[in-house]
Amino acid sequence: MKMGSAKAFDFDAEYGLKYDQFIRQIIPGYDSYFPLCISLLSEQMGRDGSLLVAGCGTGTELLEFASVRPGWSLIGVDLSDQMIKIAERKLQGVSAPNTVKLLVGDVTKVVLDRPLNAVTCNLVMHFLRGQDAKLQFLKSLKSNLAPGGTLILMDACWEKSAAFSRMMRAWWDYAKNRGLLTDRWFAFREEFESSLYPLTRDEEVKLIEQAGFGSVCPFWSSLHHQAFVAVNSG
Ligand SMILES: C[S@@+](CC[C@H](N)C(=O)[O-])C[C@H]1O[C@@H](n2cnc3c(N)ncnc32)[C@H](O)[C@@H]1O
Repeated sequence: MKMGSAKAFDFDAEYGLKYDQFIRQIIPGYDSYFPLCISLLSEQMGRDGSLLVAGCGTGTELLEFASVRPGWSLIGVDLSDQMIKIAERKLQGVSAPNTVKLLVGDVTKVVLDRPLNAVTCNLVMHFLRGQDAKLQFLKSLKSNLAPGGTLILMDACWEKSAAFSRMMRAWWDYAKNRGLLTDRWFAFREEFESSLYPLTRDEEVKLIEQAGFGSVCPFWSSLHHQAFVAVNSG
């Protein structure tokens, strides 16, 4: 599966295969983000709530959720066969009795037989070009969510301000200190600027509201990435 332009972000090829190492070199706080999501979701989900992980990738968050909240029913959906296979292998080690269902496919086409308590969608929507495509995407996530259910969304999010170059230099320094090679950084940087379609934080809040969510709250950010929590207005 290719997203954006050319060979950028091909989750079925080399990029997907090395995803778990790479994402930790490139997103400060990636591993501590998912425990925070659990804390945000716990009230809504109770002991045995249901959750859709849209674009679950290699299953890092599914593994975290299943391990910490063994009563939750989890459905992970991803377009990439390779990413789902990696997730499957990781989840084999989970001995908890909860249900984790994995599906290969487009999450916007998934129609579930009952609405769920929550949806998480991390590092996915920024691949969609244009506000209309993003809006349709958000509405499709909402269609599987119960009224009052929780949405958690993380995307690349920025506007080019005077601070942008400084942030990029700090980002490179962080990634380099975690072993990212110079060539890989420059390739990534080009992909990041040409193949992602970020909104500003305010635009993203407005779009989430437009899709039918309320109480939208930015709750986490890391350099050019921003996460939001919102409630399905019904
Ligand atoms: C950058 S990864 C994020 C993976 C994971 N959520 C994480 O936080 O590490 C983006 C994933 O979204 C998947 N994806 C993109 N669009 C999708 C869609 N419409 N339906 C299902 N998966 C999608 C890609 O295949 C890829 O595995």
